[in-house]
Amino acid sequence: MKMFRKGLKGVVAVETKVASVDGEKGRLTYRGYDVGELTKTLTFEEAAFLLWYGELPTDREVKKCIQKIKDNRALSPLQWEVLQALPRDMSLMDVIRTLISLEGDQTYSGPPTVEQAIKLTAVIPTIIAHRTRLLANKDVVHPELQLSHVENYLYMLTGKKPLIAHVQALETYMILTMEHGMNASTFAARVTASTESDIVSSIVTAIGTMKGPLHGGAPTGVIALLEELKVSNDRKKTIKHKILSGEKLMGFGHRVYKTVDPRAEALKEKLLSMQVEDSWLHFAIEVEKEVVTILAELKPDRKLYTNVEFYATAIMRALSMDPTLFTPTFTAARMVGWTAHILEQAEDNVIFRPQSTYVGSEK
Ligand code: ACO
Repeated sequence: MKMFRKGLKGVVAVETKVASVDGEKGRLTYRGYDVGELTKTLTFEEAAFLLWYGELPTDREVKKCIQKIKDNRALSPLQWEVLQALPRDMSLMDVIRTLISLEGDQTYSGPPTVEQAIKLTAVIPTIIAHRTRLLANKDVVHPELQLSHVENYLYMLTGKKPLIAHVQALETYMILTMEHGMNASTFAARVTASTESDIVSSIVTAIGTMKGPLHGGAPTGVIALLEELKVSNDRKKTIKHKILSGEKLMGFGHRVYKTVDPRAEALKEKLLSMQVEDSWLHFAIEVEKEVVTILAELKPDRKLYTNVEFYATAIMRALSMDPTLFTPTFTAARMVGWTAHILEQAEDNVIFRPQSTYVGSEK
């Protein structure tokens, strides 16, 4: 019997060893390791190695991986030429999709490899930073080989060596958002990979999917909420009014997590432990407490907590990142999860080819 589930809700489409998302227990693991724990001990490069290879790296292995990432940071001459020619009103996600598309030469043909995954992961922060500086009429800042992946990203954006606290905060965010099971963009990437198309084409599919507001494109709502609450004379009253009038408060609730989003918890814990000096962060923590208390009072059975977007926004604000960088930065992190899944798809591939039920009329 044919079964139909709109949006494939509840359908298991893939068996994976990359990560596990337990929405009931609020647990996210990468290759069996708790992600909150990983952020306490691993760098971005080490976590990426774990997702790509399935094992934690030795010192020698991680050094080699770091070097390969550094070697692949620069744009190709063609990418640089095209970047300068793209219209100013093109969105950053469209720019990323276009420039990643230009990666697709003969070196990417054939089955996907970790080398290709490294190349794509290495270049994306440079695309984002160069485009951002060109739009601001500033000289681009070339990648600095002494710096780590996350440190170099911030350096290329600002032209200044970033504070350690800022690097750690962003690194935590980027590790936490590297991977999240069968979300829409990862699924899209695996569908393209399942046709035995190349890795660049699969990633271009994923970027186009990530761009949509229902997936990667909604964090500005959290800023709008915090800005509104900042100037409210009676915050609790404003929050209650919003909830009672049916508004969904941005940064709260989650489709999968029916308990605390472990990424939000880990992000908050890290931020608190590092004592990032930012009044917005402390304000966000106050707002979280108030909103969660009021949601528990007004919607007692719904189990609504902060999701990852809430503290991601707090982090990006603390780093003075423009909101236009939020989804692109998420994309730079998720490149690791996408490529890990594309590699896994190729290991034991079956083309995705579901069916549809015709509901039109017969003529
Ligand atoms: N604020 C107030 N009430 C909420 C919220 C919220 N953020 N989220 C859910 N509720 C309430 C709903 O009003 C509803 O109450 P009711 O049954 O009394 O009418 C109940 O909780 C269930 O809501 P649904 O929308 O059905 O919950 P679902 O699990 O389908 O939706 C979603 C999850 C879409 C994330 C929702 O919580 C939401 O819109 N949150 C705000 C947007 C947001 O922060 N998105 C980012 C998610 S994280 C990520 O994508 C990486």
